[in-house]
Amino acid sequence: MRITGTGHASMRIDTGAGSILCDPWVNPAYFASWFPFPDNSQLDWETLGDVDYLYVSHLHRDHFDAEHLKSFISKKATVLLPEYPTSQLEDELRELGFTSFFKTKSNEVHELDGGLRIMIQALISPTDGPIGDSSLWVEHEGVRVLNQNDARPTDLSTFAELGHVHAHMLQFSGAIWYPMVYELPQAAKTAFGKQKRDRQFDRTWRYIDDLKADHVFPIAGPPCFLDDELWQFNDIFGDEGNIFPDQSVFMTEYAKVGGTNAVVLLPGSASELTTESIETTHPTDVDEFFANKKAHLEEMRERKAPIIAAEKASWRHPEIDVLGELKKRIEPLLEESIYLAKGVGGPVRFDLVSYDGDAIESIVVDFPGKQVRSYADEKVRYRFRTQRELVEHLIFIDEGDWVNSLFLSCRFTAARIGQYNEFVYAFFKCLSEERLQYAEGWYDEHEKSVEAEDTQLGDWTVQRRCPHLKADLSRFGIVEGNVLTCQLHGWKFDLPSGRCLTSVGHKIRAEKTDQGVNR
Ligand code: FES
Repeated sequence: MRITGTGHASMRIDTGAGSILCDPWVNPAYFASWFPFPDNSQLDWETLGDVDYLYVSHLHRDHFDAEHLKSFISKKATVLLPEYPTSQLEDELRELGFTSFFKTKSNEVHELDGGLRIMIQALISPTDGPIGDSSLWVEHEGVRVLNQNDARPTDLSTFAELGHVHAHMLQFSGAIWYPMVYELPQAAKTAFGKQKRDRQFDRTWRYIDDLKADHVFPIAGPPCFLDDELWQFNDIFGDEGNIFPDQSVFMTEYAKVGGTNAVVLLPGSASELTTESIETTHPTDVDEFFANKKAHLEEMRERKAPIIAAEKASWRHPEIDVLGELKKRIEPLLEESIYLAKGVGGPVRFDLVSYDGDAIESIVVDFPGKQVRSYADEKVRYRFRTQRELVEHLIFIDEGDWVNSLFLSCRFTAARIGQYNEFVYAFFKCLSEERLQYAEGWYDEHEKSVEAEDTQLGDWTVQRRCPHLKADLSRFGIVEGNVLTCQLHGWKFDLPSGRCLTSVGHKIRAEKTDQGVNR
């Protein structure tokens, strides 16, 4: 089996029974904020795109690049489709010209021609990717690989049970706007960023340890930021609070925990993998490449500037009445929303900065009042401040997922009262009838499924499943003093009160031998 690195989370897997291209991403994503790094635009995409199978793990724009899929990937390729609750991924691929689909069943092994076996695990909670994230397991002639990319299953036992895995590809770096966009003192931002960076690595070590593959490939990030406004997000300033460490940092950190089996793929690197061995060739020296990271980024910044300028020129739509349009689109969804609206629990304010930066229009999405209206000098849960043209463009393209566009762009600042609130982002991910209904249904079921089973952690008996996304706390839970940390996403719980210290709601059931149960 040959694994060719094609940038970011993308790779091509060649076997004697056919080839699979995964997540090809080349064009900038999220309002031209993210670019693949190292640059992969100069690869021979005509050849790479001539494949038997295409696997797009999910709809995040750094995995689903419509323009690139349309221009370079063979429409004869059969799409290996994850089993998602909505048909959006299939619909969008059909629109691009793909006609052949192999619809997988989540967690089931499928036999393809020539003895190629695959399994796709689909994660389907409203907080998984853009409602859906997935991992691909492949086996041919006894060689097994797991392309976990940026999916976060609670554990990897479903894959481990299928036999020893030879190569494990997974995310290790950040892919979010927290904490950089928050209006916090720099020292606090650095401290939160450092915590997040450490947590990302801890999670990665846990997954690696879960699967114990022969070889580990750090993939799916980080992106690079080439617009001057976002340049500071690149991890080139020695900032320990930067959440975007690259593959060379991964190698250093992995070595500190005893890891010796990692393989970094640059775009164009290729690993020949057998059950016994691996041999990797690179287009250039990997260490030297990362040693010159800043120079590479500066060269890219210069070269890609016209692309960013062209994108920026397309965002303004002064004819759009933003308040009127948001009212029309969002109020019917607020009316239907029970769980998400209740979860947000207060007004969310958007400050839209005019083109010249002089004026600000403040709009409030009032979740309890089920209204979109002008800001009325009230206390709000969250406040976002962004360029008016970005919201105009979201309306113009009828974007149903503001996480997969505005928020991931990092082109905003934010402030909030109280804790992180996942419902805010879940709602702005679901700005369509189909998505909202799905998310509401999911929370409904989730709330009703009372987790009866307990586990023992130190002196505490706690509910076995994490109130966040049901990680098994007998494996992911760590108790220090009275605080339980679930290592899957790092959420913390105060055990005596049961209160979640990371997010609103999500109380945990916990009991100390001589105390009552917290509910
Ligand atoms: S499942 Fe996310 S923190 Fe526990």
